Formats: sequence, C-alpha cells, structure tokens
Amino acid sequence: MDRYAVIGNPIGHSKSPQIHSLFARQTGQDLSYEAILAPTDDFAGTLRRLMTQGYRGFSITVPFKHEAFELAGRLSERARRAGAVNTLKVTPEGLFGDNTDGVGLVGDLKRNPGAALAGARILLLGAGGAVRGVLAPLLAEHPESLHIANRTAEKASALARDFADLGPVSGGGLDGLAGRHFDLVINGTAAGLNDQVPDLPKDLLAPGGGCYDMMYGDSPTAFVRWGQAHGAGWTRDGLGMLVEQAAEAFALWRGRRPDAALVMAALRPGS
Ligand code: ATR
Repeated sequence: MDRYAVIGNPIGHSKSPQIHSLFARQTGQDLSYEAILAPTDDFAGTLRRLMTQGYRGFSITVPFKHEAFELAGRLSERARRAGAVNTLKVTPEGLFGDNTDGVGLVGDLKRNPGAALAGARILLLGAGGAVRGVLAPLLAEHPESLHIANRTAEKASALARDFADLGPVSGGGLDGLAGRHFDLVINGTAAGLNDQVPDLPKDLLAPGGGCYDMMYGDSPTAFVRWGQAHGAGWTRDGLGMLVEQAAEAFALWRGRRPDAALVMAALRPGS
C-alpha cells in the first residue's frame, strides 16, 4: 500500500489524515496517510527516514514549509513564487516541491457564489508566508486591485514589489486603510491564534463585501465574527481552503482529482 503523511509541529489536531482517507475512499484508491510529528530542529532527518521507509509523498505544514522549499530538488513555478512548499512528491529524479495553498484558496472562493474575483477590490491582511503563498493565484484571477495591509507596513510594501509583475498589487500599513472600501477582505494574519483581529476601520467593507479567514475552527473565528458584526454580505473560514489544497496535492500524487465539496460536506454538514 502506498504511504503518505503530513509532517508538522504540532500535528495532533491535523484534519489532513481524515481528508485524505475520504479522498482515497471516494476515488477507490488504496493508500495510507498518517500525521507525523517532526522535531523542530530535525525536519530534514525526519524526511530522510520516511523516504527510506518508502513513503511516496508528504503534506508539509507549520513550521516546515520553508525548509521543504529548501530541500526540494525541483519546484513548481507556484512554489518558487511562494517561497514555500506544502506538498512534496517522491519521484525517481528526487523530491518535487509544489505549493497548493493559493489554488486551494481560489478554488474555495470560486465555489462561493458571492465571491467574484475578476474585477474585485481585494484586501489581504498580513504579510507573512501565508499571504505570500496566495498572491500569485489571486492575481491570476484579474482583480481590479489587490492591496496588502500589514501591522508592519514595510513588509507589505516589499511583498507588493515582489509580485508587481503579476498584476495591480500594492502594500502598506493597517493605518492606511481609513476611507478605503473592499469587495473582499482575506485575513492571512496570525492574530486569530489569540482570538484577535487586526485593528480595522469599521466601514472597510463595500456593500455586499465578503470576509474570508484563512484560519478555521470548530466555532466561528475572530475574523468571521468581525465580518458578521460589520455588515459582511458573506463570511467563510479556511476549512474549504484546507480541503481544496489537499485535493490538489492528492491529484499531484495520484493523478486523480477528488471532489472537495463532498469531503467538505462530510467534515462540516450543512456547509
Ligand atoms: P505565516 O507564515 O502564518 O503567515 P508569519 O510569517 O509569522 O506567519 O506572519 C504572521 C502575520 O500575522 C504577520 O503579517 C504579522 O504582522 P507583522 O508582520 O507586523 O508581525 C501578522 N500578525 C500577527 N499577529 C497580529 C496581530 N495581533 N494583529 C495584526 N497582525 C498580526
């Protein structure tokens, strides 16, 4: 049986094993998928050991996406742009690194009828690895504008400069948002880990505008609650993005793309 795993630290609450076993059942494939905890100072050693044991592919999560990028012998263009790898495939030529986070986000947004991306004014909150990973796929959807706002303004400006060749992207501080309005606001900050929201103007959303949180939880996230309290036309958390990025990884490994919507419905009935 072909073996796959997600590697991270911590990894105990990962939903990936459940998602991939649902994909395997749905597509009639015989494979195993485990969650593996790697020591923060020995990701490379853990990966080597698993490859020796014959594992065929890996999902990579916090905090190892950059190390996986460094260790991959070949990279997809989107992984190169992201500077991070969330999917590794073992091939006869060595480790191939991909990044499916951005297409996962776009795929989930597209399944949401309210979220038209073409021509939209999009705001991305944060300027860390999570935001870098989704910039290229979002710009490929031809928004009217994509603005990155971050607590540390310079990081957002630097990110915007790095992606300026791909579309109308700008960057600045959270304090520069006053008086501006957006059709879609995507939270890619880590503030939600402490159940917080970045400090935002109350009238940030254009009429009908949506709020998407890249984080997810069993109850509404802080940013989803912020959207509900500030007139959002719709709100959504990042569980769909997680499932969609996993479906892309599964397709890379197995050559068949599972139906993410069916798995979403199993994970969160009524979604
Ligand atoms: P990741 O790889 O998950 O994106 P990261 O690189 O540590 O993680 O980035 C975390 C992001 O969340 C950063 O943009 C950070 O802002 P700074 O660059 O100013 O540090 C943002 N962030 C974290 N906590 C925040 C908070 N309480 N309010 C606003 N932004 C926050």
